[in-house]
Amino acid sequence: MTVSIHKKLQNEKIEFTLLLEAIYHKYGYDFRHYSVAHIRRRIQRRLTLDGIESISALQHRLLNDETFFFQTVFHDLSINVTEMFRDPSFYLAVRQKVVPILATYPFIKVWHAGCATGEEIYSMAILLKEEGLFDRLQLYGTDFNDLVLEKAKEGIVSIRSVKEYTSNYQLGGGTQSFSDYYTARYSHALLEPELKEKILFANHNLVADQVFGEMQMIVCRNVLIYFDQELQNRVIDLFYHSLCRGGILCLGAKESLRLSEQENKFNRLLPGEQIYQKGYGTD
Ligand SMILES: C[S@@+](CC[C@H](N)C(=O)[O-])C[C@H]1O[C@@H](n2cnc3c(N)ncnc32)[C@H](O)[C@@H]1O
Repeated sequence: MTVSIHKKLQNEKIEFTLLLEAIYHKYGYDFRHYSVAHIRRRIQRRLTLDGIESISALQHRLLNDETFFFQTVFHDLSINVTEMFRDPSFYLAVRQKVVPILATYPFIKVWHAGCATGEEIYSMAILLKEEGLFDRLQLYGTDFNDLVLEKAKEGIVSIRSVKEYTSNYQLGGGTQSFSDYYTARYSHALLEPELKEKILFANHNLVADQVFGEMQMIVCRNVLIYFDQELQNRVIDLFYHSLCRGGILCLGAKESLRLSEQENKFNRLLPGEQIYQKGYGTD
């Protein structure tokens, strides 16, 4: 009995490996260093939802149906959940501890890597506007999923989310009324167009693409959590080389530089938040 369970798990592992290889060779997207638990959860869910009997059967379908890959499985694996002022204590910490550092620069470039549908980067635009840094600001929002980037460019959020976003905004230290930043239109809220003027959206794949300019701050929250340690190290190295000396790196609440190869090249700015500063003495 135990032997057969062991064999089943072994076969399943081989099937997952082959599936990710097939995706990589057919479509060029490399999920081979995403966390095994994440891939397993998402693939199992897809098998159940579509009544597909095995991972091998899914692989066969993926290889023969591009639309199925791009419109379904790619989305399953990328997970685009986001919200405005998500984890408000993070935004409070940015106001209190990071803004004084950013204010020392004549021009401020901020890169949101894995920005999904843009709620996070619009939140940062609001915060930096309220803190008086808007005139010298350029924000870059990147993701490897073109569909979410198209949505992000629209600057529209669901009206149903506005109550929660208002509460997040206030808890995150917002100094105005959140309603100053949107116009309600039936089922959606159109974010203030002025915010969009400060943001450039672009496709960038953290697994395959290169350094992204010399940034004063990089925000990459709730993305590394889906990567294995090897890929996390590679991506943190990419961030390290994309930041100016003294630049700021912000990760998600469940992410950390602990265990990463670059841990001692950064200083943690404050306990309780995953906000780090690149050392001044490094390249
Ligand atoms: C859970 S969302 C996080 C959104 C936002 N940062 C937040 O915390 O609310 C993760 C995002 O990372 C993106 N992503 C995953 N792998 C990526 C990669 N290799 N390169 C760029 N973006 C990636 C996904 O498409 C998704 O939009």
